Amino acid sequence: MSYLQTTAEFYTEAAKSPQVGLCCISTPPMQFPDLKIPEIMQQMNYGCGTTIQPTELRGNPTVLYIGVGGGLEALQFAYFTRRQGSVIAIDPVVAMREVAQQNLELATQENPWFDREFVKILAGDAFALPVADASVDIVAQNCLFNIFESQDLQIALKEVYRVLKPRGRLLMSDPIAARPISAHLQADERLRAMCLSGAMTYDEYIQHLIDTGFGQVEVRARRPYRLLDTHSFALDTPLMLESLDTVAFKVPIPNDGACVFTGKTAIYNGSESQLDDRAGHILQRGNPTSVCDKTAAKLATKFPHEVVITDSTWHYNGGGCC
Ligand SMILES: C[S@@+](CC[C@H](N)C(=O)[O-])C[C@H]1O[C@@H](n2cnc3c(N)ncnc32)[C@H](O)[C@@H]1O
Repeated sequence: MSYLQTTAEFYTEAAKSPQVGLCCISTPPMQFPDLKIPEIMQQMNYGCGTTIQPTELRGNPTVLYIGVGGGLEALQFAYFTRRQGSVIAIDPVVAMREVAQQNLELATQENPWFDREFVKILAGDAFALPVADASVDIVAQNCLFNIFESQDLQIALKEVYRVLKPRGRLLMSDPIAARPISAHLQADERLRAMCLSGAMTYDEYIQHLIDTGFGQVEVRARRPYRLLDTHSFALDTPLMLESLDTVAFKVPIPNDGACVFTGKTAIYNGSESQLDDRAGHILQRGNPTSVCDKTAAKLATKFPHEVVITDSTWHYNGGGCC
């Protein structure tokens, strides 16, 4: 049996007998005014971080959600979109789609603003998304793509890129690993399905996005997720997994490389009132300007004494320059 079949079986079980923390560690879901999340959806929170980025949800977007789970994030997206069919949630696991349908019916009873028609649940697979080219503004997935082996992840990302409109956004949350995960753990299909052994390193994860063609990537959060201990996982030293929330933009990759924002800032520290680097960046003395990692590295090389570069905060929310 392939690991993808094992994954489908695992999530059939997870749909039939919801268990808190069965897959990922359960984090409290994001709350918004007048949003009531049914208890069963909270128990079936099988994501690791969040893909709900309110700043990306302006302008009536159409959202494609891959791997519906218990429907929690589909409901949260619908909170912002509030339009018939504006959230298309897909899942290849029949039992998961059925449970998500039931959970969303429950949500209509607790949320007067919510119309069940806002969310359309479809049979579908990350490797063959059931929507047309350049037809959606947002694609989201939480704790699914980390399960995929590298070549499958490439196919899934290409599919995402195909269906996004130009300037569309991919909102993701996945575990990443502090070092490459040992082969014996990667080969364990059940651990992989549980989002514990398929994770890539941060660099590999970001590179996959860039290789797909995303010209800008923003890290919105990065936090500890799980520690794989030496006894249970037959490791020489413990291995830290973190959850990473990102937004990737379908914009062209600049000639000098993609822009990856991780929360770094550049601060001019010289004797003039401002510094013009003649490459499109003007830094006011003493004022932090958000910069992508590429620009941070260039400024640090060009102005080692006049510009201070602050560390990545892993919480970037827009602004600044690439
Ligand atoms: C870890 S759960 C995450 C569920 C949901 N995103 C959440 O945050 O609670 C993974 C989900 O992806 C679905 N899934 C499994 N294989 C898939 C595939 N090849 N394509 C799309 N979804 C898949 C599972 O049925 C399950 O609903």
